[in-house]
Amino acid sequence: METSVTETFAGRTAIVTGGGAGIGAALAHRLADHGAKVVVADLDPATAAKVAADIGPAAVSAGGDAADAGVIEQLIATAESSFGPVDFYFANAGIGGGAGLDSTDAQWSAALEVNTLAHIRAARLLVPGWLARGAGYFVSTASAAGLLTQLGSAPYSVSKHAAVGFAEWLSITYGDKGIGVSCVCPMGVDTALLREGMIPENNAEAGRLAINAVKSAGTVLSPEEVADTVLAGVAAGDFLILPHPEVLQMYRNKGSDYDRWIRGMRRFQATLENPGS
Ligand SMILES: NC(=O)c1ccc[n+]([C@@H]2O[C@H](COP(=O)([O-])OP(=O)(O)OC[C@H]3O[C@@H](n4cnc5c(N)ncnc54)[C@H](O)[C@@H]3O)[C@@H](O)[C@H]2O)c1
Repeated sequence: METSVTETFAGRTAIVTGGGAGIGAALAHRLADHGAKVVVADLDPATAAKVAADIGPAAVSAGGDAADAGVIEQLIATAESSFGPVDFYFANAGIGGGAGLDSTDAQWSAALEVNTLAHIRAARLLVPGWLARGAGYFVSTASAAGLLTQLGSAPYSVSKHAAVGFAEWLSITYGDKGIGVSCVCPMGVDTALLREGMIPENNAEAGRLAINAVKSAGTVLSPEEVADTVLAGVAAGDFLILPHPEVLQMYRNKGSDYDRWIRGMRRFQATLENPGS
């Protein structure tokens, strides 16, 4: 019988990075609704504190950069002292990171730090303890951009592909040793990231194209809809969690004829660049 979502999360301890807003805030709320204890972590301590206060005694908040190993150590220590050993780590914090070849080294570094290296550093700190306990679960919020691409943003595409690659490797390497891994790959979700976070200061035009690409590719879901799909997918032990199920067919199309898929993506980009033609 399928394990119910509440059975999976009730009484368990979770850390959610980027928990102060958007998908992370919805994940934190839904985890608590299912009886989990949550450390709501965000770069912005005020938004994290607000989400934790709204949840109540089942949550505590913590500020800091999710890509900083010292901050991650602190998050783990906070979870342990407040609730107990970490059962679930939601590596959810993410940023847009830049546009095309004009992306600066600083934009590339920021995207790779937050969207990829943050996951690697968290796993490095958590997996040894999970192996010793024989259990633990890592949830990577990547993106459909990590399976397909993100028109208008090379740093986002590359850093999300890397996040998917790392999650795959983690699952293959540790999946038979008690460690669960899920990789969440949504298309559009109605959050600040999709409203303005994809627009870099040095190339607003590419940022707007990126947003239009996401919005015209499929339905823009609410963060709560995504959170529910994620928790159901984790409860089922699914590696690939697709809040927009049509992404699976897009990914199959890419795999079955890569050149055809690239030509199609060029045509899609051209329609976004020249909407009237
Ligand atoms: N919104 C979408 O359309 C969409 C689609 C696919 C994937 N995603 C991914 O979902 C995740 C959540 O994004 P969202 O849409 O909820 O965005 P959001 O901007 O609404 O929320 C992201 C949160 O992460 C925090 N954050 C940013 N950098 C951080 C850091 N270094 N350390 C800690 N916290 C940090 C922000 O302060 C913010 O509260 C991201 O990884 C994003 O790439 C979003």
